[in-house]
Amino acid sequence: MSDVLTHDLIILGAGLAGLRAAIEASRSSRGQLDIAVVTKNQMMRAHSVAAEGGTAAMLRPDEGDSFELHAWDTVKGSDFLADQDVVERFVRAMPIEINQLEHWGIPWTRLENGRIAQRPFGGHSYPRAVLAADKTGFFEMQTLYDTLLKYDKVKHYNEFYVTSILTENNEFRGLTVMDMSSGKLRLLRGKALIIAAGGAGTLFGFTTYSQTVTGDGLALAFRAGIPLEDMEFLQYHPTGLVPSGILITEACRGEGGYLINGKGDRFMGKYAPEKMELAPRDLISRSEMTEIEEGRGVDGPGGLDHIYLDLTHLGADRINERLPLIREVCIEFNDLDPIDEPIPCRPVAHYSMGGIETDILGATRIKGIWAAGESACVSLHGANRLGSNSTGECLVWGKITGEETAKYCKETLDMPSVPEAAFEAESKRLFDDLLQRSGTENVYDIRRELRSCMDQYVGVFRTQEDLQTALDTIKELQKRYHHINIADKSHTYNTNLIQALEVGNLLDLAEVMVTGALNRTESRGAHARRDFPKRDDDNWLKHTLAFKTDGKVKLDYKPVTLTTWKPVERKY
Ligand code: FUM
Repeated sequence: MSDVLTHDLIILGAGLAGLRAAIEASRSSRGQLDIAVVTKNQMMRAHSVAAEGGTAAMLRPDEGDSFELHAWDTVKGSDFLADQDVVERFVRAMPIEINQLEHWGIPWTRLENGRIAQRPFGGHSYPRAVLAADKTGFFEMQTLYDTLLKYDKVKHYNEFYVTSILTENNEFRGLTVMDMSSGKLRLLRGKALIIAAGGAGTLFGFTTYSQTVTGDGLALAFRAGIPLEDMEFLQYHPTGLVPSGILITEACRGEGGYLINGKGDRFMGKYAPEKMELAPRDLISRSEMTEIEEGRGVDGPGGLDHIYLDLTHLGADRINERLPLIREVCIEFNDLDPIDEPIPCRPVAHYSMGGIETDILGATRIKGIWAAGESACVSLHGANRLGSNSTGECLVWGKITGEETAKYCKETLDMPSVPEAAFEAESKRLFDDLLQRSGTENVYDIRRELRSCMDQYVGVFRTQEDLQTALDTIKELQKRYHHINIADKSHTYNTNLIQALEVGNLLDLAEVMVTGALNRTESRGAHARRDFPKRDDDNWLKHTLAFKTDGKVKLDYKPVTLTTWKPVERKY
């Protein structure tokens, strides 16, 4: 076969987890490992650059923080669905990652005395979010990217879209990838794969995610036979800017911002008297929706009724120093200066707690495939992630999977044979079927309808009836998808074809998410059922696993690892 590209390790995704993995795999192999980093975007365009407020780490044992406290906050925040051995490993690894980035040159924001600054974040009982102003993800990405440039055996494949994962006898063989500039399909062969391609947030219309985050890694893994775990847990961040959905960082509240309703009341006192605006996200999002539904919100455009985030009492100096991006965004997008006026906000789809099932080292059930970052469900966040724990997860499991795959590649002497038949079958699927479709359905209409269905029926509060409506709609959209028209039949930068593939991925993931949510008849973390308002540990203290079996979603469950804490009532 002439179209084969061969590398030892393939990393799908060039965000925080992917770059951290590439560095670690290079470093632990002393630069000898031949690595491909594959992205459908360009380097430094990954959604990780949009992370704003901070990265949590226990840095001040001398001032009252501890590993136990960070672990307890995370477990309680997760509504006891996090695996506690995973949490323990995470909190202990985080200070090392912060110092590592420091050595690689990141410009952490500092205190007057020179120590690394930290700010409060929701659900944490100590101010432990390390920051680079309100552009933390951008500076972390830049630092990792610069560091990775040292290794000349890392090849970057920009604008390469992966269409399938090839396996044989439950072992990884390679990927089929489309070079978007030519439309040519290639086989990317390797010994090991790390999937680090982000979450699935653009299932929703009102979202903080970049439009590029279409759950490709999750859908590819699902179709290759790896289960997706806990997909019903989708995080609504409490402060999405109305009407665009742009993230207004939780750091605004960490710096002292207030949430106020349409009557001017600081309402969180009713719902979380102790933590107020720094309660965890699931609780605040529910509180905001309750204020809006009970008539104390503010009418917004297109049904986007909202509350306000008020920073006006913080003063210009603090806003300019600690929240410059937020000020710029509000001025650019809403013609509003938060120094003088409150910001219109409401809950916004922000993060997938679920993802590709992995063990504590990021390994999946298929030999040779690992997953890290938001694509993975190592089960650190359970039913509700604490703000500032996700960038940390990318760093920790980027490092772990980088190390593990480097070891695996060294021990695995032979490169897998070329799976020609599977490659040919994928080529036919893409070019003889999908590209030739000239039906009556418009793929962009399907995407729009999917998103508005998810916004409307899979929201902060859920019911059996709404979820069933969502599932019926998704199934109808899946049928219509068979009759799409790909108007552009050419090969060069065929964005019609790529977006059709992305929408196919989103439809599969929507079905998984809603099926899991319908089945889970309790309320836990971000999954709030009006018809089952209580947490039910007797029946539901377990992880959901979704498998693709005979073209259908089949659910199974597995226990939560509880090492230290038994579930108790969550109060803030
Ligand atoms: O609000 C934020 O800055 C988001 C942080 C996070 O999702 O961890």
